[in-house]
Amino acid sequence: MTYQIGEVLFSEEQIRKRVSELGREISRKYCGKGLTVIGILRGAAIFMSDIVRAIDPSVNVAMEFMRVSSYGNGTDSSGEVKILQDLENPVKGRNLLVVEDILDSGWTLHRLKEYLLQREPASLEICVLLSKPERRQVEVDVDYCGFVIPDKFVIGYGLDYAEQWRHLPAIHIAKPVEEAPGR
Ligand code: PRP
Ligand code: MG
Ligand code: MN
Repeated sequence: MTYQIGEVLFSEEQIRKRVSELGREISRKYCGKGLTVIGILRGAAIFMSDIVRAIDPSVNVAMEFMRVSSYGNGTDSSGEVKILQDLENPVKGRNLLVVEDILDSGWTLHRLKEYLLQREPASLEICVLLSKPERRQVEVDVDYCGFVIPDKFVIGYGLDYAEQWRHLPAIHIAKPVEEAPGR
């Protein structure tokens, strides 16, 4: 199956507006405090760069990144999550905010949460841009959620199809390319 860029699900303007609302919520919560924001590569790279800039200067923000991947082959999630790139600095006693592009089966965030809690942070919150509740295999409580979406294949604004289309400024539906019959 091959895909092409389909209709816009969320425009640049819609994303910008929602990101700034989330930024204000986060700012209210952490005003005058320190906050380590952890972006999960690669999907969250674009959202991370926008959300940190939506956080008020009254919050003392540090940026960290992790890269994780699910074991096994794609769709059939085993629930195993491999850390490909770990945090660089200790997070014990720090307020953490994990930033993710999408909450799908839930396994990535479920495992990440367990992993980070072992490091004894002062607090741990989760911010996702998109959530697909129909796909959930394990429940994960998120503290900030941009949009709840139906079970559609989405691309752009960090989200990929086989590493393609992360750079699109809006979020689109990926639609299957029709094969010409008899050719
Ligand atoms: C995607 C997405 C989330 C995760 C969500 O990442 O960016 O990290 O899957 O799925 P889950 O809730 O079913 O665990 P992916 O592993 O495709 O890597 P990427 O971020 O580099 O695209
Ligand atoms: Mg990801
Ligand atoms: Mn991906």
